[in-house]
Amino acid sequence: MTAAWVQRASFDPPLITVAVGKTRFTHDMIIESGVFAVNVLGEDGRATGKHFGLKTGRKTDKFAGIEYDTRTTGSPILKDCIAWMDCRVRSHFDAGDHTLIIGEVVDGDVTRPEARPLIYDKEGFYK
Ligand SMILES: Cc1cc2nc3c(=O)[nH]c(=O)nc-3n(C[C@H](O)[C@H](O)[C@H](O)COP(=O)(O)O)c2cc1C
Repeated sequence: MTAAWVQRASFDPPLITVAVGKTRFTHDMIIESGVFAVNVLGEDGRATGKHFGLKTGRKTDKFAGIEYDTRTTGSPILKDCIAWMDCRVRSHFDAGDHTLIIGEVVDGDVTRPEARPLIYDKEGFYK
């Protein structure tokens, strides 16, 4: 799934938070598996953001035709991402219609340091 609500939470250990809607197919997969990966998209990754953010994995195999790899946790690392963080779930908290998932970054890399990240803004993203 595409997620914009991702942020740093701690330097040591390296932790991040992701707010995942409780209705997302991905939600229970993260909670049950205890792992996930964040793939940072570049400015050329808008179509990938729409692909993973506007369809649900309940109805379609969103990874069909998508090139990806796995590293430490087995979570998917997209070939066309500009950076990735492979995470283990440390804890999670109820946050209204979302769950705030805290992940420890156990592996990661910046694969295209020259690339600029895709920024989500409500007006521009869907154009
Ligand atoms: C640009 C963008 C940002 C999004 N950010 C989030 C987010 O931070 N958290 C979230 O729960 N859903 C977010 N979504 C919605 C999910 O990506 C979307 O509901 C997706 O279809 C869920 O897929 P799934 O049901 O296969 O898990 C975002 C969607 C888009 C297009």
